[in-house]
Amino acid sequence: MALLDILVYPDPRLRRKALPVECVDDEIRQLIRDMAETMYQAPGIGLAATQVNVSKRVMVIDHSDERNELQVFINPVIRSRRGETETEEGCLSVPGIVAPVKRAEEVTVTALDSEGRINEYTASGILAVCLQHELDHLDGKVFVDYLSRLKRERIRKQLLKESRNDNVAATTDRAVAL
Ligand code: NI
Repeated sequence: MALLDILVYPDPRLRRKALPVECVDDEIRQLIRDMAETMYQAPGIGLAATQVNVSKRVMVIDHSDERNELQVFINPVIRSRRGETETEEGCLSVPGIVAPVKRAEEVTVTALDSEGRINEYTASGILAVCLQHELDHLDGKVFVDYLSRLKRERIRKQLLKESRNDNVAATTDRAVAL
């Protein structure tokens, strides 16, 4: 297993639209293991392949307290959305920043698992938020895109400055690090 580097906003590679996985093979399973290790170490509760500079539609989530319920979503598609909720979100690619984002309260998602089987999930609460957040990453979208232009610009400048100064990266509370 290997720890992968997480891209930090405003890295332009976070804007790429990830490509569907054509075959769930050992290479994809290795990617999943590395992404899971990276997510647990960060620590965060979700990670999309885009964030580790792999342009494939793969994401991992574990929102359990014990950190022992890894969920894998390959080629995920949101089939339906219901309701609205606002949650304080953070992101491993936007260290140290949290902000409220409005999303659907409940989503139904289909995705392949690590054996290539298709599954359907109906999720609410933090899992629903996390699924929408990670799926955005696969489409080149970051949660700061939902904030005002002014706030986004402030965050962009702050993170650029931190990267230039080579500061120790700020971390976000795991509870909201998606
Ligand atoms: Ni994120």
